[in-house]
Amino acid sequence: MKVDVIVGLQWGDEGKGKIVDYLAPGYDMVARFQGGPNAGHTIKFDGKKFVLHIMPSGIFHDNLVNLIGNGVVIDPAILMKEISQLEESGFEVKEKLLISKKAHLILPTHKYIDAATEYSKGKMKIGSTLKGIGPAYMDKTGRNGLRVGDVFFDNFKNRYNHLKEKHMKFLHQFDAIPDFDIAGEERKFFESMEQLKNYNIINAEYYINEFLDSGKKVLAEGAQGTMLDINHGTYPYVTSSSTITAGVSVGLGIPPSKINRVIGIVKAYTTRVGSGPFPTELLGEIGERLRVEGNEYGATTGRNRRCGWIDIPQLKYAIMINGVTDIALTKLDVLNGFEPVKIGMGYKLSDGSETKKLPFDIDNIEVVPVYEDHKGWVEDISKAKTIDDLPPVPQQYIKKLEEELSTPISFVSVGPERSALIVV
Ligand code: GDP
Ligand code: IMO
Ligand code: MG
Repeated sequence: MKVDVIVGLQWGDEGKGKIVDYLAPGYDMVARFQGGPNAGHTIKFDGKKFVLHIMPSGIFHDNLVNLIGNGVVIDPAILMKEISQLEESGFEVKEKLLISKKAHLILPTHKYIDAATEYSKGKMKIGSTLKGIGPAYMDKTGRNGLRVGDVFFDNFKNRYNHLKEKHMKFLHQFDAIPDFDIAGEERKFFESMEQLKNYNIINAEYYINEFLDSGKKVLAEGAQGTMLDINHGTYPYVTSSSTITAGVSVGLGIPPSKINRVIGIVKAYTTRVGSGPFPTELLGEIGERLRVEGNEYGATTGRNRRCGWIDIPQLKYAIMINGVTDIALTKLDVLNGFEPVKIGMGYKLSDGSETKKLPFDIDNIEVVPVYEDHKGWVEDISKAKTIDDLPPVPQQYIKKLEEELSTPISFVSVGPERSALIVV
């Protein structure tokens, strides 16, 4: 058996959680392969709403397991809080959750460093979620990190203290450091690590490969989006992990040859939270309307999401990098009432030339999007169950995107609820 993949094709928050939750019953495992509590994946069903940060989005279904893979960075306090909230809502977690021994831990001082680094950057800040993601991955690649499996060894506390001291020395270099309750955070960290020991902490590479060999089906759930990828995103305004399909291999320990279908999640317009280039951003009234109609406020930090039109060159780039086989188009219902609906077709550079490729120095130069107008629609489409239920104009918008992106759209989401989904 092979692995199917869900990846975000924009700057995150495309609606990955909703699509994973919808597809999960067709799989035996949902596996997160990268990122950490910077993610916020929203799932709505039966009028209830859940936001998951570290927990894979298959957790609401029985008969499948959920794996937090080695590529994920775990804040144990956030994970434990998430688990208790799910249990309070009546969802069994323990039997359905597997955690890789090799997943790295976010220490309290990683969050401290994240805050100090962002603070020191002033206007140049990345807009980090301040969950300690960057510093945790730095210690991973710097070969200093602590992993979940390390907790079972006697020297865990010593290794923790050693790394913490290193962090405290590093923090001395900053002129100003925001307030941080290190003692309180540390207490929560160790309490949560004790609880974590009672969960299924496994050799995930063996588990998942044997799982696949025995004929079971796996859905890999990406966090963030392609434009936030550490290698291929709008660097330095990115996150610190491989958010793309290639990250599935690295973050789960499965060979690339075992990757099958790659479903790219695309919002019917574009949003970005945090700093960095965003060519089709709408700074005026239309952007504000998209934010309100689309409820575009961060699921993790509550920040306003920046909003703009869909960007074809950006999406073509993401499809190329990820090997996308088909697309799930989300939030089409939000475009209801916008006239026209604009589509970014290319970029005009300051020398007057036009390009359909993302420039290397996109964060330093002015790029003016070249738009094509598409007719808008005013009909409520949120009750549509099939493509034929959609009025002709939104159908034309879908067709236009398929043509421009040379990729089929297999799902169209028309509302936040699990049931508001058209399978094409
Ligand atoms: P993720 O990080 O990619 O999982 O996405 P988020 O959960 O951060 O953000 C997506 C938001 O849009 C959430 O509030 C979802 O409930 C909501 N959502 C998802 N699909 C749709 C849709 O088709 N229509 C509308 N109106 N909202 C949607
Ligand atoms: P999901 O999985 C949207 C953004 C942050 C910031 C940058 C770096 O819900 O789509 P970090 O905390 O990783 O150091 O922040 O990346 N970012 C996200 N934006 N959705 C996310 O996750 C994000 N995770 C991080 O806003 O600009
Ligand atoms: Mg999100």
